Amino acid sequence: MPSTFKYVPLVLALLLPAGVPSAFADDKAAAAAVTNEDGKYFDAEGSPTFKIAEDGTVDWYTYSGYRRFNSECFVCHGADGAGSSFAPVLADSLKVLTYGEFLQIVAEGRKNLTAGKESVMPSFGNNKNVYCYLDDIYVYLRARAVGDLPRGRPAKKEEKPQAAKDHETSCMGG
Ligand code: HEC
Repeated sequence: MPSTFKYVPLVLALLLPAGVPSAFADDKAAAAAVTNEDGKYFDAEGSPTFKIAEDGTVDWYTYSGYRRFNSECFVCHGADGAGSSFAPVLADSLKVLTYGEFLQIVAEGRKNLTAGKESVMPSFGNNKNVYCYLDDIYVYLRARAVGDLPRGRPAKKEEKPQAAKDHETSCMGG
């Protein structure tokens, strides 16, 4: 086989328009935490994920994401990601969005013109209160989507890891 053929799948993957629905489906098994790096949990694919103990204690990032989401995103997406008349129910969206897609949409924003009605997701790429906490918001919404995390402020949380403090200082200060 000519050597150029081995690049075809890669090129096709890069050419797929962002709007094409992916076959990705998240669930509890896929989101299961398999590694823990200083209080931050990751799934088997290496994407950040939540950890909810049997007594309801959530990992720090899920708790932090709850707070960030409900200060920066809820005005449009509804408290706890439950949706509104003009922005999607993110507690459902995260069942089909990959981590990479989530990051891209939040960083770049998205504009959708359907039947003459404009629907705009703003870009948060320049908002430190969002981009310094993107993983936090992601794992919180992932927990809402596939982790049975109830609405409202999680009652119990793990202590804030040193890594979270360090990241916050460098990201917010820089
Ligand atoms: C000013 C209102 C507004 C704010 C604030 C807002 N969004 Fe959105 N968002 C929207 C709208 C409207 C859409 C749907 C855009 C479309 O139709 O393509 C959307 C879409 C999304 C999507 C894609 C959902 C899907 O099902 O494809 C994600 C993810 C998202 N927003 C995350 C966030 C996060 C995280 C925040 C907070 C950091 C946020 N949004 C804040 C209005 C908003």
